[in-house]
Amino acid sequence: MTGGMARLDPHSYADDSQVETEHLSWVARVDFATHTLHGEATLTFREPGGGALDLDTRELVIEGAADQAGQALPFVLHPAEPILGARLSLELPPGTRAVRIRYRTSPSASALQWLAPEQTLGGQHPFLFSQCQAIHARSVAPLQDTPRLRLRFTAQLTVPRALTAVMAAAHAGRSEDGELATERWEMPQPIPPYLLAFAVGQLASQDLSPRCRVWAEPAQLGAAAYEFAEVESMITVAESLFGPYDWERFDVLTMPPSFPYGGMENPRLTFLTPTVIAGDRSLVSVLAHELAHSWTGNLVTNANAEHFWLNEGFTVYAERRIVEALEGEEMATLHAALGRRELDESMARFPDRPELTHLRTHLGGIDPDDAYSLVPYEKGYFFLCALEAQVGRPAFSAWLRSYLADFRFGAITTDDFLAHFERALPGALAKVDAARWIDGPGMPASAPAPRSSRIEALERLAGTVPEVAATAGWSATEWQLFLEAVPRPASVETCRALDARFAFTASTNYDVLVTWLTLALQAGDASVLPRVQEVLGKVGRMKYLRPLYTALAKNPQTRALASACFAAAGKGYHPIAQQLVESLLR
Ligand code: BES
Ligand code: ZN
Repeated sequence: MTGGMARLDPHSYADDSQVETEHLSWVARVDFATHTLHGEATLTFREPGGGALDLDTRELVIEGAADQAGQALPFVLHPAEPILGARLSLELPPGTRAVRIRYRTSPSASALQWLAPEQTLGGQHPFLFSQCQAIHARSVAPLQDTPRLRLRFTAQLTVPRALTAVMAAAHAGRSEDGELATERWEMPQPIPPYLLAFAVGQLASQDLSPRCRVWAEPAQLGAAAYEFAEVESMITVAESLFGPYDWERFDVLTMPPSFPYGGMENPRLTFLTPTVIAGDRSLVSVLAHELAHSWTGNLVTNANAEHFWLNEGFTVYAERRIVEALEGEEMATLHAALGRRELDESMARFPDRPELTHLRTHLGGIDPDDAYSLVPYEKGYFFLCALEAQVGRPAFSAWLRSYLADFRFGAITTDDFLAHFERALPGALAKVDAARWIDGPGMPASAPAPRSSRIEALERLAGTVPEVAATAGWSATEWQLFLEAVPRPASVETCRALDARFAFTASTNYDVLVTWLTLALQAGDASVLPRVQEVLGKVGRMKYLRPLYTALAKNPQTRALASACFAAAGKGYHPIAQQLVESLLR
């Protein structure tokens, strides 16, 4: 069976001996009554070919397959594997240029969340969104679902007439017919399948600049437009650092609160959690992060999930360069110091699985969602900082631009990065012991440590209840660093004194709020429980669910409350967030 065939990716059935998809034409009808997409996917190949073709699917019902002439093609849908999903095998006659597959999705499709009207701000209309990274696109359409194979696409979605559909692509028109509306798009830039993205709901938009528009439910549009107003200046700065913005538009979609991530870098249309709308732009580094992916991740893409640090570590580095340019070096250093603290906490979650704290991972038999942590983000960031310190900023910046230019619209592995860096700046990798960073556990003792006078001032206050005057002018990042540095477990008295003076429980900055609530829960401070329940009932972002449920479940006095919160709110969480909480409560 094997002679010369090789999998391109441990998380895909795509095989390098088979034809490669170059273009997808996707047509689907969105049925809110049954939580089903009725779809037709036409895959056109780079070159005509024949023989076996294996596609990735998950929970799809395949209704038929045909070639470009409409000639039916035999297919076999294999039994589902727990991580990869079900392989769809087709047998193509020689010279096949395209296959057209009719199918429908499952109501439990892992990429989709269907929200009832009462789960939206407006309360009148349902909402649907996709989240395909890392390997969920296959639950929306049959594909060669590996980032090694980029595709261009056209798409057409039929939705209820009262709703608007948006997609990470160029809008090409809307037509209405009776109760229904059909929206069309074209994606001129080739993308890895995990960047396929769309949402359907009652949406309104406001222009922020000629190339930036914000979308949100009408009730949140004004707040979102205020929060993200700096986006054009961010793009300008990013272009000066990383080269021209290659995606024409950068729009932002404000997601429902159940969106499981902070943001998702869907090209031309970044998805952002509404929890970043603090009212004072104090969480816009998430926007900078998703924007930075337009270069690191979307232009230069990890070849598979084992090289995820190439996406996220580079993006955290790029995000902090943007923050530094807009808000100054001091602020970027504070972000890095917080990153280091969160990294140490993340690593502590993997005492029995040190291999998941390597930058390059081996994920055969492992679900990328289970391997997800801050390690590729922050360890990747500090590794790049170590390289930058070794060669100096000017040389590192010049190399970064050449790396982005050379691998533009490509997919690469860790070895591709290493070879490129070594060619440009020979010897530096060995000097920082890159092998230890990439294939070793934990953090090297030589890792650069963020230092500044404000960090030192914070450290002096650790564990005290400071005078209000001593905290004048603190940024949200400083408040978080301060809270993170309170020795655990704190006493209930300390918590009460802190909250009486600084009103953390009333904070509108979710990062500060959740850091505070976690500290108070770990102290056994029952007075925060109503606020914890409120957050868990309203927000489905996994970054917040994880520490809150963990702290609740760890304390015998609040363990039952954790289960009760999940029983009450869990149905409103995204499928992957439900899975996370179930694993925490087990
Ligand atoms: N691409 C990620 C989100 C993601 C990663 C989704 C892996 C699915 C699988 C996105 O760019 C991201 O990193 N979001 C962060 C925000 C950030 C500022 C670190 C998040 O969600 O917290
Ligand atoms: Zn990211």
